Amino acid sequence: MARENPNGSVAVVTGAGGGIGRAVAQRLAQDGFAVTCLDLDVTRAGETANALRDAGARSIAEKLDVSDGGEVERTFQAVSARLGTPTVLVHAAGILTFAPALELAEQEWRRVIDVNLTGTFLCDQAAARLMAAAGGGRIVNVASVHSVSPGSGVAHYDASKGGVALLTKSLALELAAHHVTVNAVAPGLIVGTNLVSGPNDEYLAEVVPHIPLQRAGQPSDVAGAVSYLCSPAASYVTGAMLVIDGGMLLTARI
Ligand SMILES: NC(=O)c1ccc[n+]([C@@H]2O[C@H](COP(=O)([O-])OP(=O)(O)OC[C@H]3O[C@@H](n4cnc5c(N)ncnc54)[C@H](O)[C@@H]3O)[C@@H](O)[C@H]2O)c1
Repeated sequence: MARENPNGSVAVVTGAGGGIGRAVAQRLAQDGFAVTCLDLDVTRAGETANALRDAGARSIAEKLDVSDGGEVERTFQAVSARLGTPTVLVHAAGILTFAPALELAEQEWRRVIDVNLTGTFLCDQAAARLMAAAGGGRIVNVASVHSVSPGSGVAHYDASKGGVALLTKSLALELAAHHVTVNAVAPGLIVGTNLVSGPNDEYLAEVVPHIPLQRAGQPSDVAGAVSYLCSPAASYVTGAMLVIDGGMLLTARI
């Protein structure tokens, strides 16, 4: 059941058709936000928005390719006109593909950088323009444990997520004057999403024993941290990256 939001605040969630984006959208709706659900997969974004409306929240869905600057600008303007100017952006759209660095095609490198890094910049910029004009807001980027520690066969993903981590700090520095905070969450292994075609049971059986908290994460674990970063309790937090990995980064293994 959605709580009444006294401010009528609006949150935009990209990747809202995906596992983490959907959980974030649900949590922000419970926190009282009206939620705009954006995704390349508009069917899944629409399912998220329908679920939020069924629970009593205001919510709309739109198709968006986050790597297309013109589409990002137009979509943020359009959804603001429909649901209201966002005070929160959670950018959860992202892709992950695997290829050894020696075999990684230029096109695949560019595609992952375009969606994960350029897409983050474009959405943050579009949201920040609206927020700055309205007097402030909160931006939360979904980074990764791969923002700080590399994996094998994911050089393009590592580079994109490393970029998201520093972009978050850079924007936090520049946008503070506009009362816009910019933070990131860095999930570890989160199950119940479509990011990889698994992780399968065999992979989990191998990896989970090495996670200090002895379990994989759930999208709701990430949503809880995002909720905090969008709450009044985090009004003095900017440029931070909150790691949600069950302690994975404390070990040498991700
Ligand atoms: N699942 C994990 O273990 C994990 C760990 C660390 C970080 N992350 C990050 O969390 C974020 C969400 O991933 P998820 O696990 O929920 O995966 P997911 O695949 O379930 O969700 C990602 C969503 O992004 C959307 N998307 C992809 N390309 C897009 C584009 N060009 N424009 C708009 N939307 C697009 C997809 O349609 C999908 O709905 C990603 O940035 C991912 O890198 C996930």
